[in-house]
Amino acid sequence: MLKVGVIGCGYWGPNLIRNFSALDDAEVKICSDLELKRIEHMKKLYPSVAITQDYRDIIEDSDIDAVVIATPVSTHYKLAAEALEAGKHVFCEKPLTQNVEEGVKLVDIADKMKKTLMVGHTFVYTAAVNKIKKLIKDGELGDVYYISTSRVNLGLFQKDINVVWDLAPHDLSIMNYILDSRPLYVSATGHSYIQPEIQDVAFVTLTYPGSVLANLQVSWLNPNKIRKTTVVGSKKMLVYDDVASLEKIRIYDKGVDVIPHYDTFGEFQLSYRYGDISIPKLDDSEPLKIECQHFLDCIAGKKARSSGRHGLEVLLIMDAIDRSMKANGEKITIEYPKSLT
Ligand SMILES: NC(=O)c1ccc[n+]([C@@H]2O[C@H](COP(=O)([O-])OP(=O)(O)OC[C@H]3O[C@@H](n4cnc5c(N)ncnc54)[C@H](O)[C@@H]3O)[C@@H](O)[C@H]2O)c1
Repeated sequence: MLKVGVIGCGYWGPNLIRNFSALDDAEVKICSDLELKRIEHMKKLYPSVAITQDYRDIIEDSDIDAVVIATPVSTHYKLAAEALEAGKHVFCEKPLTQNVEEGVKLVDIADKMKKTLMVGHTFVYTAAVNKIKKLIKDGELGDVYYISTSRVNLGLFQKDINVVWDLAPHDLSIMNYILDSRPLYVSATGHSYIQPEIQDVAFVTLTYPGSVLANLQVSWLNPNKIRKTTVVGSKKMLVYDDVASLEKIRIYDKGVDVIPHYDTFGEFQLSYRYGDISIPKLDDSEPLKIECQHFLDCIAGKKARSSGRHGLEVLLIMDAIDRSMKANGEKITIEYPKSLT
């Protein structure tokens, strides 16, 4: 039985407490929040879980094997580094840290301490994203031409990070995972309409190897909540709508073929294919439960699907996005350190 301590019981932390508590081989022993009201609420829901306002009660408890961090990003590095140094395994919410330097140091500390460091890239544990990954791997879509994503709604405005660092970790982790790759270049524009110097809208274009393009729209300033990903392949196209309660993925047998063998430009023709639309059945297990179980499996030796290194890759991409936005959309080459290859 692995003993877990959770730091941060705001909006997201309680979901982690609920899911870790539901696992057979884990026990949430203690949780912490700076706000007394939050931990008192947790005590009502989980009477056997101890509560504290001081996270050090968790980190310094020799009985605790793993620490789960669901606090604002500006605190991730300090809390995760202290927990790792104290010999705990760490599950840290996304984004891993608030900048690349902290991310590099955290991955180093985890290596040095030989402890599991996992980042909460929840979407790589969803049935929909895993279905898309399989369809691509099995060649069902043909060669992937491009991906476009939209993750927009009204708010919630963050004070310590811009909209890219808040919302794009989801899309970047999804794209890296389904393409089993990572982008080479980025060009991005964004603007701060509401809070000075904190972009609330960003349009990002990434180039993956093989000329696969990806376009991301992230915004806190949109009347509708949209979570949509379109993957266009040479054989088929797919739309993944995460807001849909049922039928999240639609596969369109649509495409364009160039008719072979033409002698003159006048004979050059395209043929459009309008085939069936299929809707795959998806497993309805809670992704967060799968993610929490995966963390325990990684502590037992399994390779992490969202490791500290995957978290660091996403930080490197977001850092390049920030630099491109500052330089009015300049194309930036994303550099990955050797330790990530
Ligand atoms: N994976 C996902 O889908 C997902 C979804 C939502 C949020 N998140 C992530 O979860 C993290 C928390 O987000 P949130 O929306 O719950 O924020 P929140 O502001 O609602 O909650 C954070 C809580 O942490 C507490 N806290 C801050 N410093 C602390 C400390 N030193 N010790 C103990 N408690 C402390 C605060 O009092 C607050 O209650 C962020 O990293 C966010 O990106 C992930």
